[in-house]
Amino acid sequence: MTSTLAHAAGPKDLDNAWVRQQFPSLETQVNGQIAAFLDGPAGTQVPQQVVDAIQKYLLHDNANTCGAFATSRRTDAMIAGARQAMADFFHCDADEVSFGQNMTTITFALSRAIARELKAGDEVVVTTLDHDANVAPWRALEEKGVVVRQVDIRESDCTLDLDDLKRKIMNKTKLVAVGYASNAVGTINPVAEITRLAHAAGALVFIDAVHYAPHGPIDVKTLDCDFLACSPYKFFGPHMGTLYGKREHLMRFSPYKVRPAPDALPDRWETGTQVQELIAGIAAAVNYLAELGKRHDTAARDRRSALLAAYRVTHAHEMALLAELMEGLMAIPGLRIFGITDLKRFNERCSTVSVRLEGHTPTEVATFLGQRGIFTWDGNFYALNLTERLGVQARGGLLRIGLVHYNTADEVERLLAALREFSRA
Ligand SMILES: Cc1ncc(COP(=O)(O)O)c(C=O)c1O
Repeated sequence: MTSTLAHAAGPKDLDNAWVRQQFPSLETQVNGQIAAFLDGPAGTQVPQQVVDAIQKYLLHDNANTCGAFATSRRTDAMIAGARQAMADFFHCDADEVSFGQNMTTITFALSRAIARELKAGDEVVVTTLDHDANVAPWRALEEKGVVVRQVDIRESDCTLDLDDLKRKIMNKTKLVAVGYASNAVGTINPVAEITRLAHAAGALVFIDAVHYAPHGPIDVKTLDCDFLACSPYKFFGPHMGTLYGKREHLMRFSPYKVRPAPDALPDRWETGTQVQELIAGIAAAVNYLAELGKRHDTAARDRRSALLAAYRVTHAHEMALLAELMEGLMAIPGLRIFGITDLKRFNERCSTVSVRLEGHTPTEVATFLGQRGIFTWDGNFYALNLTERLGVQARGGLLRIGLVHYNTADEVERLLAALREFSRA
């Protein structure tokens, strides 16, 4: 009886072997060694389903939108389906989702549109922890006399200084721009609480969920945020960006657009012809995650519950890998970890870790690892405020190790062995 029930609920642990079979590129070899893709924060690999969807679109449905013929109608249907997939992903309505080139371009377009309603002396709050794509578009408003205030971090654990945030949100604050999770040090920000604080002061909230999206489920309804952006290429999809906006704001703010383009939602926010084949790939990425969720929870009935099931199991897997990684890193002499290291506080972080090894630049370490087929990233990852604040910007930044659900304990062990070898040399 018990085993039948367990079977009906699906496997408890992530079926990592099945996961890896879905991603053909994970078989890539470098110098005779299988590649360890620990570069997920800069862009994840894609499952076969995504490649197939892009190919199918180009081979069978390729057309511009809103035409009176078969391929154009199929294109319209495909885009509507992809929008619904992202609506399930964000937990919103389909007309609150728009697609764009990438998160950076979307955010610049949105900040310009919002700026039409701002005047000199209005204030916007950004943070030291954020990627510059959630800083520069808001700093650009300084040209109009908008005052930009920047919330500091607590250097000891690279978390946001919430007292400073409370001081900086004032009655002149019109918008708070905050990241869901740091792409450099993995900190997860209390975005629901920040949204509450901002709304209490009458300000809007824009959340950059690019780094959080591969690690945890997004629920814009529960967060109650006004805007949230993320990039499918960071959660197993193609290189594009997507935006959620509350309907009332998407209608009220006026984007820069060409006159013949529709003024209805969400089209008014989608400038020009979209990369439709990649939109097909976005739907496939969401469906891949849902399929993963259904394998692990056969009781998951709709796509949203399947997505939540997927994140339950990928999160547990990532946290187990993170614990191994952290323990191993802490034992390497001369290695400094930036951010939360305490296992008891792992709920405040995701599985992205940045370090520096004494006496070496991050580029030297990344090059050594790269020659052994271990892909990490070095530099500032565009989290420029943070690398400057931590005093590492002029010294080559950080070495970033990113774990997602297709990574394995063997890969973590390989990385640690290589780091130990390099630190001894
Ligand atoms: C946290 C975060 N925000 C924003 C961006 C920018 O995203 P995009 O490349 O889609 O413009 C990135 C890209 O690395 C990121 O990691």
